[in-house]
Amino acid sequence: MTKLIFLGPPGAGKGTISQRLVKRQGMVQISAGDLLREAVKKQTPLGMKAKAYMEKGELVPDQLVIDLMVERIRQPDCKQGFILDGFPRTLAQAEALKKNRIEVDKVVNFLVAEDILIRRLSGRRMHRITGEIFNIHTLLPPPGTKEADLIQRPDDKPEAVKKRLEVYKTDTMPLIDFYNQEGRLVNVDGEGDSEVVLGRVLKAMQ
Ligand code: AP5
Repeated sequence: MTKLIFLGPPGAGKGTISQRLVKRQGMVQISAGDLLREAVKKQTPLGMKAKAYMEKGELVPDQLVIDLMVERIRQPDCKQGFILDGFPRTLAQAEALKKNRIEVDKVVNFLVAEDILIRRLSGRRMHRITGEIFNIHTLLPPPGTKEADLIQRPDDKPEAVKKRLEVYKTDTMPLIDFYNQEGRLVNVDGEGDSEVVLGRVLKAMQ
């Protein structure tokens, strides 16, 4: 199995494609955002610290995320391979992977135009009970789904989206050069139908 990093702006489809690879190839997805949201929901000490940063669309401080992710990657189910979805997101996080001798084979960098990102994020809804992700523009929930059961992530509101896109440019984009210089970066066109994007990612993984 392969060890991958999924890099890309908010709404690029990192989570969507990870989920498809989990179903199709049995890969292990480690989503920094999902682990942090779980901590917030459970009101753990980490969750209490992370909540305000996340709601504003800012990054959670490096050391908190590094400790969380390194511990998760060291679990036995990750021995053969994993997808790091949304981690690393800063140079300090990328350096921490190296320091902890966590190697990756490839870094898939999703390329999506900003207007498409904003449309996807503004349309994303999560089912309150099942946790399934839908999109009011592209991926409608099954007929009969109650509107009240579909919730919007607090950080998908316009102000937070604006901030997340800014933070991506200042803090995360430098990782493109970082991994390019290491020869691990593969750019993938993230626009178009998600099945088509999945095909491109599978090709990039070869
Ligand atoms: P996180 O949850 O990781 O948010 P993100 O990176 O902003 O990623 P998203 O989930 O918004 O986008 P995605 O690329 O996964 O797109 P998705 O597939 O969901 O992080 C949230 C917060 O946690 C951060 O802001 C930060 O505070 C904190 N955090 C997380 N990691 C951190 C780190 N390493 N360091 C510090 N803090 C950290 O798709 C989005 C929508 O588009 C969906 O509705 C989907 O259905 C739709 N869609 C996807 N692909 C397509 C397609 N091809 N066509 C049409 N629609 C599509």
